[in-house]
Amino acid sequence: MTIKPVRKAIFPVAGLGTRFLPATKAMPKEMLTVVDKPLIQYAVEEALEAGIEQLIFVTGRGKGALEDHFDVSFELETTMRARGKSLAVIETIRQQPGSPVYVRQQEPLGLGHAVWCAREIVGDEPFAVLLPDELMVGSPNFLKQMVDAYQQVGGNVIGALEVAPEETNKYGIISPGQRDGALTEVTALVEKPAAGSAPSNLMIPGRYILQPEVMQILDAKETGAGGEIQLTDAMAKLIGRQPFHGFTFNGERFDCGDKTGFIMANLALALARDDIGPAVRAFAQQRLG
Ligand code: G1P
Repeated sequence: MTIKPVRKAIFPVAGLGTRFLPATKAMPKEMLTVVDKPLIQYAVEEALEAGIEQLIFVTGRGKGALEDHFDVSFELETTMRARGKSLAVIETIRQQPGSPVYVRQQEPLGLGHAVWCAREIVGDEPFAVLLPDELMVGSPNFLKQMVDAYQQVGGNVIGALEVAPEETNKYGIISPGQRDGALTEVTALVEKPAAGSAPSNLMIPGRYILQPEVMQILDAKETGAGGEIQLTDAMAKLIGRQPFHGFTFNGERFDCGDKTGFIMANLALALARDDIGPAVRAFAQQRLG
């Protein structure tokens, strides 16, 4: 079995972000900041550090700020240069000409449909998918750890993290087979199982390395949980045809699609900073008594 390298990553960013209204009325939810960086940038940096070369954003109307964020800001750079200010803070995310690639998902038909919208750009190669709502903190980062594991086993490797049993109905859930270190064989997958019916409490935390054949399965546009075209259902059809493993990340996860998780991420990352950490810690300690 030859294991092809993972060079491309898909970022589904067409979602409306209704859970964060009014903040997300005129601004993409992926631009919400954790301390001083938008969520999307954490996901992009994770991908680039993991060796991804081609970024593919599946976007939609009202998401122009995302494109501007990864573009050159001529006025800003000229002004900063004239004032003798360092550009380091914005240079890290400047992409090569021609990248990122933006494709449109015209209708919100589900995560599977969003991924399928990138099929022409992905072509016949394995690819990663990162959901920017899920902020992962660790060293090496989550996708890098997954890529290293993928280079051993090939096929499909998806994140696998334990959640409380009462939370399993919010996520894609893995039926686990044999476990070997951080890798767990995946024997079945189910999207948002009804309370009490989950096969385990191993959820899929928005990190995927997939083989291109999943695109052909998505071609059928079959709908599943919530009437949406689910990536989980399409992936489930690859089990038995190709190697399929869950990978348990050694690091911390923040569900920034949820207000509580978003605030926790801000607090945790602020406390970890050298510049603002001490002041935030002193304030929190005083506030909490
Ligand atoms: C999506 C996926 C689900 C996954 C989750 C992670 O669900 O469909 O399998 O566990 O992201 O956040 P969504 O949050 O879009 O409903």
